[in-house]
Amino acid sequence: MRVALMGSGGDAPGMNSVIKRFVEYALEVGYEPYFIYDGLEGLIDGKIKRASYEDVAGIIYRGGAIIRSSRSKRWYEARYREQAFKNLQKLKISAVVVMGGDGSFRALDLFAQEFDIACIGIPTTIDNDIYGTELSLGVDSALNVIRDAIDKIRDTASTFRRAFVIETMGRECGYLAAVSAITSGAEVCVIPEVEFNKSVATALLQKEIQQGRSYLIAIVAEGTKRTQEIANWCKDELQIETRVTILGHIQRGGSPTVKDRLLGFGFAVEALQALARGEKRSVTVFQKGAFSTLPLEYVVSQKYRLDPDIISLLNFID
Ligand code: F6P
Repeated sequence: MRVALMGSGGDAPGMNSVIKRFVEYALEVGYEPYFIYDGLEGLIDGKIKRASYEDVAGIIYRGGAIIRSSRSKRWYEARYREQAFKNLQKLKISAVVVMGGDGSFRALDLFAQEFDIACIGIPTTIDNDIYGTELSLGVDSALNVIRDAIDKIRDTASTFRRAFVIETMGRECGYLAAVSAITSGAEVCVIPEVEFNKSVATALLQKEIQQGRSYLIAIVAEGTKRTQEIANWCKDELQIETRVTILGHIQRGGSPTVKDRLLGFGFAVEALQALARGEKRSVTVFQKGAFSTLPLEYVVSQKYRLDPDIISLLNFID
């Protein structure tokens, strides 16, 4: 069987460990591995090449994805999806494995419904907003980048008696912000899933400031769009000199953590084993320490919800 791997949407640390293990395991079990370069755009344009051991040597520690990725507007026009299918047919490729997030899985689901091609998704997004998997690939690396940034920012915050409002990525999902706030001991955390009670926080923090608190760290998820508002609140109501730091794309970069490398290996093997079991539309997931799959259409039809245990830990913060 010929099986092709591609990236789609935002990159995530650990994609290269998927790429490496995909090639190695495919060759071990007698499949012919292919790469689709440049994501859905590359699939439309036929940028598809046979993959070998040499392609994946020395890539494991690198962030990003050596086969690159893209977001594609053309994909939503039927003629381009047909062109993409023809490109695969020409090379007798009967399955595609796609590393991507929510939007990419929707794009994949469309393709899988229209054409006779097996489609397996691997959840790769720092946002951790994919239904059915405790962890998506890249989340652990992003959390560690954020932890490192907060540790550094705290040095200035404490030296200068300042408030720092730090904005994390995550789209509509507050996972990165919540877990970072909990594990870095932030005083304030604002995420889309939980109402931020400003008056309670004001009373609490004003009291702490009177009692000697000299700095504070507030983590705000980008999805709330409240970063500047929280900074104004720190300055005007808490009367503390305030700076804003938007962490931005550094959260998606850098060498993947050990956890993400292992997760990448597991997802790659699970995807290929799913194809061997005859699955045609699945997403690999990681739950309670084990890899398995869920139906693609089910995953895209459900909404990810932030773990209530994380929310209850947050209650200690605000
Ligand atoms: O989905 C991953 C992500 O990094 C989000 O957290 C963020 O909102 C978005 O992608 C940024 O997208 P872009 O790289 O296109 O600016």
